[in-house]
Amino acid sequence: MRARVVYDTNYGNTRIIAEVIATELGGGTSTISVTDLTESSLAGIDVLVVGSPIIGWRPTERMQAFLGGLTPGSLDGVRAAAFDTRIKLFIHGDAAGKISHALEAAGATIVAKPHGFVVVGTEGPLAAGETGKAGAWAAYIGSRLRASA
Ligand SMILES: Cc1cc2nc3c(=O)[nH]c(=O)nc-3n(C[C@H](O)[C@H](O)[C@H](O)COP(=O)(O)O)c2cc1C
Repeated sequence: MRARVVYDTNYGNTRIIAEVIATELGGGTSTISVTDLTESSLAGIDVLVVGSPIIGWRPTERMQAFLGGLTPGSLDGVRAAAFDTRIKLFIHGDAAGKISHALEAAGATIVAKPHGFVVVGTEGPLAAGETGKAGAWAAYIGSRLRASA
């Protein structure tokens, strides 16, 4: 398995979740900031997890630019999942679902429902228990990957 977790972050909380997911997936899964992506960063991967903070009800502009650059078929054969970080508001919008749709439109097979992880305030920290939930979500992804290997 060649897996990568691509994330964006303003204050570090989404990176923490990305790192928990990469550790749980194991097998040398690496994290990379969307700002560090190059043409070759995703070459040869077969698992892709993507996460972004919700900013103004949607993924960050940097993440939207990355997703917008994915051509149809560019993720054929890749199994994928998406997450976001968000404040627990009555109306918080969505980034994970939008990311998931974009990955699927590029050809990826979505293996887990999009998931939101809660931060306590704009700059965080993550709410109690959220890193544990991230580990459990990643463990579920791992089980789906093994089931369909
Ligand atoms: C300009 C701005 C807009 C935001 N808009 C939303 C929003 O629409 N919904 C929401 O749940 N959180 C919103 N947030 C809170 C972010 O989701 C939160 O800062 C983020 O999850 C923290 O993750 P990070 O540390 O990885 O940047 C916003 C934050 C900023 C700075």
